Amino acid sequence: MQLTWLGHACVLLTGTKKVLIDPFIPDGSVARTNPDLVLVTHGHYDHLGEAVALKKTTVAIGEIAKYLMEKGVTAEGMNIGGTITLDGVTITMTPALHSSRIDDTSMAGNAGVAAGFVVRMDGVCVYHAGDTALFSDMRLIGDLYHPDVALLPIGGRYTMGTREAMMAANFIGAKIVIPIHYNTWDRIAADPVSFKTAIERTTDLTVKILIPGESVEINPEV
Ligand code: NI
Ligand code: MN
Repeated sequence: MQLTWLGHACVLLTGTKKVLIDPFIPDGSVARTNPDLVLVTHGHYDHLGEAVALKKTTVAIGEIAKYLMEKGVTAEGMNIGGTITLDGVTITMTPALHSSRIDDTSMAGNAGVAAGFVVRMDGVCVYHAGDTALFSDMRLIGDLYHPDVALLPIGGRYTMGTREAMMAANFIGAKIVIPIHYNTWDRIAADPVSFKTAIERTTDLTVKILIPGESVEINPEV
């Protein structure tokens, strides 16, 4: 499976299917990725992004799925702790410690709660934490799903910073850690190099720092 970080929290998984998570990039469009499935972690505009315009089958918490269906988007609603399989892609919705809101008056402010996703496709397991604080139940995500890759926010202010994300990486235990949700704006400035150095000095995990648009190949564990 190929994993592409498009910037901010937006990640494209390309394998049997094309799965696009949090379809927002700051200065451009994700439309050209032409995904089969879209996953939305929560309602904030920097995650919901182009979900309405893309009009692809979209997986989100029930409240956001309802909003999308009212906008004419085919949506699959689920909730924290649940798992669904669509077109051979297995998706588990995980907790996230964060808020959620959709900036649309028709929503009356109810966008459910924020979430993360564990996605399994072609024998590879990817954990996208969404926007979240550190929480110790990330250990359970590691124990239950054994992700090969963990996509963790490190930008601080609205999510974990590097200090917390280091502990998150240890809790989850994914061999590959990819920092996301940083340096998009000054308010979430973070240094991925010191994050990488600190993790790799103290663990056997590898931190892959990507530039927006860059891909890595992730092989299933044998
Ligand atoms: Ni958010
Ligand atoms: Mn965010």
